[in-house]
Amino acid sequence: MANNLLEGKRGIIFGALDDKSIATKVAEQCVAQGAKITLTNAPVAFRFGEIQKLAERLECEAIPADATSLEDLENLFDTSMEVLGGKIDFVLHSIGMSLNVRKKREYTNLKYEWMQKTFDISAISFHKVMQVAFQKEAMNEWGSILALSYIAAQRTFPDYNEMAESKSLLESFARSFGYHFGTHNKVRVNTISQSPTKTTAGSGVKGFDVFFDYADKMSPLGNASAEACADYCIFMFSDLSRYITMQNLFHDGGFSNMGMNPSVLDI
Ligand SMILES: NC(=O)c1ccc[n+]([C@@H]2O[C@H](COP(=O)([O-])OP(=O)(O)OC[C@H]3O[C@@H](n4cnc5c(N)ncnc54)[C@H](O)[C@@H]3O)[C@@H](O)[C@H]2O)c1
Repeated sequence: MANNLLEGKRGIIFGALDDKSIATKVAEQCVAQGAKITLTNAPVAFRFGEIQKLAERLECEAIPADATSLEDLENLFDTSMEVLGGKIDFVLHSIGMSLNVRKKREYTNLKYEWMQKTFDISAISFHKVMQVAFQKEAMNEWGSILALSYIAAQRTFPDYNEMAESKSLLESFARSFGYHFGTHNKVRVNTISQSPTKTTAGSGVKGFDVFFDYADKMSPLGNASAEACADYCIFMFSDLSRYITMQNLFHDGGFSNMGMNPSVLDI
């Protein structure tokens, strides 16, 4: 279903780790829609992930960058503008990692050094990406910056742990930076709040499979897939969404507005 919606645009995609990653689906769709992109991920992901294979398949550069390092991000934007031949039109921040979740610490017994690391990787990195882009004047007018979020930013999902606060912070950065980028050069900044999706990061959350099925039954349209999320990202990067900014956009089959769905009682 290629319509060349992104023809002539240049983008940077963070977070493609393997073929399940939401960012992988977005990168594939961006190229199919005519964009030129660079891929990026943490240096460790270049050792264990499949990013190089994806870069070869999509005929694009993969540039290592720890999203918590300003130096790495500066190099990423400079190199991307060089290899893509100009300023950037869109950015996807698709990064999440919690040390307390990974090490199975309960919410009532968190280690604070790990919590700070979690916030740095999962949320503050979004501010860093935007600040580097802003200071370098790296974004074209009417550009689009997106990050992926989850409804635990607004509602309580106990096993999502400290990632809930990470997502609240992430969404708040989108609103605040959306003001500065919008008034500066009409760049829009939004978050997409995605359904549970079977990926490495998603499956790391305790009880993920049961919760995935619950959300699927609760949502009138069912859970939105990673491919459907990629479609939505393409729309948000395209010129069709130019006046949408500072929003948290639910992409969840209707889950966020449900109270009770009788089909859940059949579980
Ligand atoms: N899977 C879900 O259920 C779900 C639901 C809603 C939102 N999300 C969000 O979608 C985004 C992408 O996650 P995913 O589900 O595709 O899983 P994923 O594990 O494929 O992607 C997470 C990515 O973050 C990268 N990353 C971790 N630390 C980094 C660092 N320091 N610097 C740069 N990159 C780093 C990882 O290498 C990986 O590529 C995350 O923000 C996640 O919270 C996921």
